[in-house]
Amino acid sequence: MPRIHPLPDLLISQIAAGEVVERPASVLKELLENSLDAGAARIDVQLEEGGVKLIRVADDGSGIEPDDLPLALARHATSKIATLDDLERVATYGFRGEGLASIAAVARVAVTSRTRAQPHAWQVGHDGAPLAPAALERGTVVEVRDLYFNTPARRKFLKSEHTESAHCEEVLTRMALARPDVAFSLTHNRVLKKRLAATDLDRRVHDLLGEEFPAHARRVEAEAGPLKLTGLAALPAYARATRDEQYFYVNGRFVRDKLLAHAAREAYADILHNARHPAYVLFLTLDPAAVDVNVHPAKIEVRFRDARGVHQFVFHALTRALAQPMQTGTQAAAPVTIPTEFSTGFTRPFQQTLAVEEPRSTTAAYLDFAERAYSEPAPPAASPTAQPLGYAIAQLHGLYVLAQNETGLILVDQHAAHERILYERLKQQIEAGPPPTQALLVPAVIEVSEKDIATAETEAEALTALGFEISVGGPRQLTLRTVPALLASGDIAALLRALLAEFSEQPANRVVETQRNELLATMACHGAVRGKRNLTLPEMNALLREMEATERADQCNHGRPTWRQVSLAEIDALFMRGK
Ligand SMILES: Nc1ncnc2c1ncn2[C@@H]1O[C@H](COP(=O)(O)OP(=O)(O)OP(=O)(O)O)[C@@H](O)[C@H]1O
Ligand SMILES: [Mg+2]
Repeated sequence: MPRIHPLPDLLISQIAAGEVVERPASVLKELLENSLDAGAARIDVQLEEGGVKLIRVADDGSGIEPDDLPLALARHATSKIATLDDLERVATYGFRGEGLASIAAVARVAVTSRTRAQPHAWQVGHDGAPLAPAALERGTVVEVRDLYFNTPARRKFLKSEHTESAHCEEVLTRMALARPDVAFSLTHNRVLKKRLAATDLDRRVHDLLGEEFPAHARRVEAEAGPLKLTGLAALPAYARATRDEQYFYVNGRFVRDKLLAHAAREAYADILHNARHPAYVLFLTLDPAAVDVNVHPAKIEVRFRDARGVHQFVFHALTRALAQPMQTGTQAAAPVTIPTEFSTGFTRPFQQTLAVEEPRSTTAAYLDFAERAYSEPAPPAASPTAQPLGYAIAQLHGLYVLAQNETGLILVDQHAAHERILYERLKQQIEAGPPPTQALLVPAVIEVSEKDIATAETEAEALTALGFEISVGGPRQLTLRTVPALLASGDIAALLRALLAEFSEQPANRVVETQRNELLATMACHGAVRGKRNLTLPEMNALLREMEATERADQCNHGRPTWRQVSLAEIDALFMRGK
């Protein structure tokens, strides 16, 4: 590690200064960061009385040269950067040179350290005691005693010992998730709280967050130019009631960033009820010059040069990872689509027209975000009974929409309704010419039979007319580049297989001529979102309005009804009212 030197004044003023020692956990964070910056492979933490009495961090890192030891405690002295240029591409946790100094201002600090080259260790500390020889095998030990001993007013703001130690544990968890290759231990009042052996991410997540998390998680591994996203994203089955298991790191640094949180939330939006929170451990890496970490005194917020690009990348990478089927694990061969239609067609509340919407772009989603800031649109101002199908009041099991209208209760089978709407729209589109298509962000690779390949080749023209751009990717593989925009959120692999099966029986042009509607029904069936899907009230209302605007919306394509009316009289009868 380079030697410690004071920073020039100009640079000091350029660094966001601020109070960093809010509570014991903030001390621990600074010390852990220093140990990791020093290349430690094992870090042992001892706390007493919630960290107020003692926080002791011992590491086996590079150590500090004896001459540099007094400087380590001095303000604005660092070994990590030297120029503004360095600051702009900082790759270490530390860069301000004030972590230890801030701690030393509010507690009694002693630092003992030994570099490889030193025959023994040296110590500075405890109220400016001069540099003295000490015993230590290797690395650095920082002891912080009696936090806020000189500022009793601050001490009053501390919570219970238990709360403060819990905050310390959380800080250690954050660090330990970021660095599974480093061993950690934590004791509180001499009771061992955590012991973590050096391992890989899966095991570390298992050790810290429990076995359920990795069991219900998808591996995220995506790269786009200089941007990289890795980690684990838990499936909705593991969703939490709070945001407490959202770990997002930017270049190894834990951050609470609105933009990243929003991108993640959007990626889960289609599959997760709003009241539940996704769980993830995600690492975004990018050129340090493309992100400013110097915007918050505790470095917990960052600023991206290309915020929009980062948002899009994270959203798509996560959406794709979550769409991976169970068995394929990390292999990328799974058919992949970025669902848009279902959420887009229905997110415009109270939309009356049948016009085909452009899939909402991520950029638009991000711009939306600035205004919406997570809040839901206001409930309908109109009277609750003004529309034939009424207004949504709830959803049942992610399958049925419950709405209130003049007569009483409306029950909607949302899959059937969606299928019916898609079918009618497809019909309109096909009548007007080739349907609008949507290019897949990542072409879907679909395993098919050799017979299907032959069919795809002979019927290429008909398939293109229906919105599918396909090429042969291998002896049993088709690569799908575009799909009809309306169906993009459905199971496109199943859809393509169904069409190929259909066209292998009789020529496509004959099918299109004589059984066009049956064909469109098949397409709508695969294009409609199946299974449970949680919808927001505005989405449900949009669905109801679409249904009213769609011909034969009361029947699905298999002849099943899409909705049912239950009158107040029938409900009254259930309770033997008015009898
Ligand atoms: N555990 C450690 N092992 C080796 N060197 C250390 C350790 N802790 C601190 N140092 C040295 O002391 C210097 C000052 O540490 P301090 O935490 O005050 O500042 P910093 O890490 O450089 O910047 P920041 O204020 O952003 O944390 C570091 O630059 C580093 O050289
Ligand atoms: Mg530091």
